[in-house]
Amino acid sequence: MAEEKQTIFSGMQPSGFITLGNYLGALRNWTQLQEEYQCLYCIVDLHAITVRQDPASLRRQSRELLMQYIAAGLDPEKNIVYVQSHVPAHAELGWVLNCFTYMGELSRMTQFKEKSQKHADNINAGLFTYPVLMAADILLYQTDLVPVGEDQRQHLEITRDIALRFNRLYGDVFKIPEGYIGKVGARVMALQQPDKKMSKSDENKNNTIALLDDPAVIRNKFKKAMTDSENEVRYDPEHKPGVSNLLSIYCAVTDQTMAEAEREFANVGYGNFKAAVGDAVVEKLLPIQKKVAELDKNKDYLEAVLKTNAERANAIAQKTLRKVHKKLGFLPRG
Ligand code: TRP
Repeated sequence: MAEEKQTIFSGMQPSGFITLGNYLGALRNWTQLQEEYQCLYCIVDLHAITVRQDPASLRRQSRELLMQYIAAGLDPEKNIVYVQSHVPAHAELGWVLNCFTYMGELSRMTQFKEKSQKHADNINAGLFTYPVLMAADILLYQTDLVPVGEDQRQHLEITRDIALRFNRLYGDVFKIPEGYIGKVGARVMALQQPDKKMSKSDENKNNTIALLDDPAVIRNKFKKAMTDSENEVRYDPEHKPGVSNLLSIYCAVTDQTMAEAEREFANVGYGNFKAAVGDAVVEKLLPIQKKVAELDKNKDYLEAVLKTNAERANAIAQKTLRKVHKKLGFLPRG
C-alpha cells in the first residue's frame, strides 16, 4: 500500500518584499520538500491586514510573492500555492477557534506585545487574535509539519494547545502539528548590523537584500556591509559577526563548505571579498529575477495558478470545516 505523504503547511505575509534571509532561511528549503511531502504554501493576506496596508501595494506584493515562490522553484502543481483570502474556510475556522482560545494565552504572545508597541495607534482585535487565524491555517489541512523560524515557535505552540483543547471536547478532529526541523537554512544577519537578523521591516535598506533588488544595488549593499578592523576572512561569529555573516551567505549561495570558502579568501582583502560575495549573490538571484519578469508578462498563467490552487486548497479545507461544524452542532449546509 502506498503510504500517504505527510502534509506540510507554511506561509509568508505579502507585506513588503522578501529578503535574501527569507530565501536562504525558508523558501529555498521549501523547494526541496516538494517531492517527499504534500506541501501547502499560503500567501497570508488576511494576516497582513492586522497592520495597515496600502491596497495597491498589497495587491502588487501578493502577486510578486506568488511569482517569487514559483520562480524560486516551487512547482504550483506539486505544491498548493495559494492566497489565504481565496479560501474562506480560513476565516471561518478562525472564528470558531476564537471561541476556544483564551484572552490570557493570547496576551502572552511576544509578537503581539512587540507589534502593539510598534503600532501603538492601531492595536486592533485582529492583531490580538492573529495566532488563532494562524492556528486555523494549519489545522484546516490536517498538517503534520510546519517549518517555521524561531519567531513563530510560540504561535505553533498555541496552535497545538488549541487543537488539543478542541479534540478533548469533540474527539479526534484535528491532527496535532509539529515543527519541521529540517536541514537548517542559513541564518542571514543584517549587513550593517550583523548582530541582528536581516528583516524586511528594517528601516535601514542597506541592511537587507530584497530578492528582487537590482544587481547593481545588491553589489553596492555588499560593498557597504560591515566587517571589522582585522582584514582577515575567517569564520568566527562571536568576534567577527560581519565577516562571518558574509561567509555564510557566500557558502549558502555557492554551496561551498565553510572550509572551502575560508581557503578561497585566505589572502584576499575585505574589499575584494565583499565584491565576490556580492557577485555570488547576484549570480544566484538573477535567474530567479528573470523568471519573475517572465511570469509577470504571463497574466493568464498566474490567474490560472491562483484559481486552480485555491480550488485544491478549498477542497481539503472544506472537509475539516464540515467536520468541525458538525461536531459543534451546526445544521448541515443543505
Ligand atoms: N505568521 C507567519 C509569519 O509572519 C506567517 C503564517 C501565517 C504562517 N500562517 C501560517 C506560517 C501558518 C506557518 C504556518 O511568518
